[in-house]
Amino acid sequence: MNEPHMWWYVTRASAMIAWALMTLSVVWGILLSTRVMRRVDNPAWLQDLHSFLGGTMLIMVALHMVSLMFDQWLTFTPTEMLVPFATDFKPLPVALGIIAFYLLLAVQGSSMMMNRLPRMFWKGVHYSSFVAVILISFHAGFTGTDVGSPWYRIVSVSLIAIVAIAVVLRITIGTATRPARKIDAARAAPGGASPLPRPAPRAMVVTSATPIANGVLGIRLEGPDATPLPLWHPGAHLSVHLPNGFDRQYSLCGDPADRHHYDIAVLRTTDSEGGSDWIHEHLVAGVSIEVSGPLNHFELEPAAAYLFIAGGIGITPMKAMIESVPPQRDWRLVYTGHSRQAMAFATELEERYPGRVQIHARDENPARLNLDEVIGAGSEEVYCCGPESLMSAVAARVPAERMHLERFAALARQPRAQRPVHVECRKSRKDFEVPVGVSVLETLEQNGLPVLGSCRTGVCGTCEVRVLAGDPEHLDSVMDDAHKRDLRIMYPCVSRATSPELVLNI
Ligand code: FES
Repeated sequence: MNEPHMWWYVTRASAMIAWALMTLSVVWGILLSTRVMRRVDNPAWLQDLHSFLGGTMLIMVALHMVSLMFDQWLTFTPTEMLVPFATDFKPLPVALGIIAFYLLLAVQGSSMMMNRLPRMFWKGVHYSSFVAVILISFHAGFTGTDVGSPWYRIVSVSLIAIVAIAVVLRITIGTATRPARKIDAARAAPGGASPLPRPAPRAMVVTSATPIANGVLGIRLEGPDATPLPLWHPGAHLSVHLPNGFDRQYSLCGDPADRHHYDIAVLRTTDSEGGSDWIHEHLVAGVSIEVSGPLNHFELEPAAAYLFIAGGIGITPMKAMIESVPPQRDWRLVYTGHSRQAMAFATELEERYPGRVQIHARDENPARLNLDEVIGAGSEEVYCCGPESLMSAVAARVPAERMHLERFAALARQPRAQRPVHVECRKSRKDFEVPVGVSVLETLEQNGLPVLGSCRTGVCGTCEVRVLAGDPEHLDSVMDDAHKRDLRIMYPCVSRATSPELVLNI
């Protein structure tokens, strides 16, 4: 403590650590937002690490500012430290640092209140961290007492290069990924009747097919050899290609850490067209079946609190989600169905998570589920899967930015007008006229364009393409239209255009 320049050392060290932490935090955030890290197990701690880096960086910035006030060489006053241009010492670079500090405070504060703020507002504030990175780089480049030394140059160039690469990654990968907004589960589409391609099917063997509730078959599949199966995250689904020509999608409900099995649960529907009937009658241990996926349009987004609402077989994605929620997060499940005996996993979940799971079986409690009471005025992220009537009722009570739906069947959406669409495929340098009565997907496939289809009803999300120009008329049920507009994507198996022409990135 007798060292006269101790605070100068603290100032330098805290500034460099803060700069490095900010770089790491920004890069980590970019990797998370582009879903790159979704390929790694246990995403929850990865999200927490992003917040931890940001919080620690702010503490280092505060230490940097305080130590400057004690440093015998510069001795900033609190006013000079907090008000831009109040100092005579390099006023512009210092002001940039102060403005960056306020931006970072806003980013951190809005992150802490993420669940109470409108999503777009929070996102806008969060993106200002890129501005802060630039301001800090100028601040450090013009005020640092080590500027000019070789080590300082190496560190500075490295940090700036890392952020630049991450931003490029964000722009190129980020727009090609989708947010967790809605999708699928089990719909009809006689895929086998079509000669068109399917997403990379693989043969799997049924190791067990056991009734787990009235009318519900729990099916475990394993690969033909010991090779680990593709990784999946809660909310993902498999497409099952049945020998009778039907394709069906089923949410995975097992343990994502088990890389050698996929678990699904299949409800035998009363109006089965041949999908669930076939599965219940033919799928027994030892039978080989083709599947593709997993695909995920219903990912669990980071949040402080969750409300899961499941109706009937809609429990399957919810079960996997619940089991992956980190212990420190708040969550509750409301699970409704006709009778407890027909509600897969109901008793198991109730016993494993006492106090968090509310079962509303109509044979036990004939009163209608009071959704106003269930949803209340909470700020939770709401995930819902089940019959359309339940999902529409929930969606009518929850702001769109907190609502996540997984649809079982396509919504009935009609185009505003029946008219042909001109489609240009920019990468392939081809263009086509899509007549009325023929889907854009069919036209692309007939002309050999590399696009895949599965459900062909606008539910599974397999046929997603990026839109470079034109205005798509979204008629699918994969995710909400605002998110498709943000991502500039469309699902050409059902969607068309309100503009005369569409330019696609294929
Ligand atoms: S093929 Fe399923 S959404 Fe287009």
